Amino acid sequence: MLERKYDQMLKIRTRGLREWRDQSSQFNRYEATPYVALDKLFQAYKLKKDDEVVDFGCGRGRVPFYIHHHFQIPVTGIEVNDQTFEEALNNKATYRQQAQNIPAPIKLEYGFAEQYEVKETDNRFYFFNPFSVNIFKKVVGNIMGSLEEYDRSVDIILYYPLQEYKSFLKKNTPFYLMNKVRVPKATDKKEKFLIYRYKHKD
Ligand SMILES: C[S@@+](CC[C@H](N)C(=O)[O-])C[C@H]1O[C@@H](n2cnc3c(N)ncnc32)[C@H](O)[C@@H]1O
Repeated sequence: MLERKYDQMLKIRTRGLREWRDQSSQFNRYEATPYVALDKLFQAYKLKKDDEVVDFGCGRGRVPFYIHHHFQIPVTGIEVNDQTFEEALNNKATYRQQAQNIPAPIKLEYGFAEQYEVKETDNRFYFFNPFSVNIFKKVVGNIMGSLEEYDRSVDIILYYPLQEYKSFLKKNTPFYLMNKVRVPKATDKKEKFLIYRYKHKD
C-alpha cells in the first residue's frame, strides 16, 4: 500500500522486478529498496545540504527521487539495463513536473557503475546489492582513487548487505562501520542498512 502511495506522490513508477534475460552472475536483478526501509533509514541518518548522493545501480530511480524530494540535494543514478534506464528517464520527466521548485540537479547516467567517474563533490554512495563483489571492489577502488585526489568525508550505505561486501570493506579499506539501521518488522536479517564512513584527514 505504502509502495503504491509513495510512487503516486512522487509521480514515478518503481514497483516490481526485472530479471536479467541471461541471468548474469555479475549483475543482479532490479528490485527497489522498500519505501518503509527508506523512511526508517532517513529517520536515523540525515543528509546535509552540501551532500551529493550517487546510487550505483539505481534501477528506475526510486532512491535518487526519494532523496531529492526529501533533502533537495543533487543526486546521481547509474544504471546499465537499457529498459530499466528508459523507465528511470520517464520517471524523471514525471517527477520533475511536480518538483520544478527544487533547483538541485538529478543526473541519470546509462552505463556500468564500475566505469562511473567519481566526482570530487560526490560524498554519499548507495548500494542495494546491485552486483557481484568483484564489481563492488572496482567501484570502491574508484571512490578511494577520488579520495586520494580530493580528501573528504565519505559514506557508503549498504542496503541488504552481503557478507562479501562487508568483509571487503572491513579488511581492505579504511571505511569503518558507523551505524546500523534495521527495518521494522523485517523477517530477513539482511533487511537493514549498514553505513560505513571514511574519516578524512583534518
Ligand atoms: C537491486 S536493484 C537496486 C535498485 C535501486 N538502487 C534501489 O535501491 O531502489 C540493482 C540494480 O543494479 C543494476 N545493475 C546491476 N549491475 C550493474 C552495473 N554493473 N552497473 C550499473 N547498474 C547495474 C540492475 O540492473 C538493477 O537495476
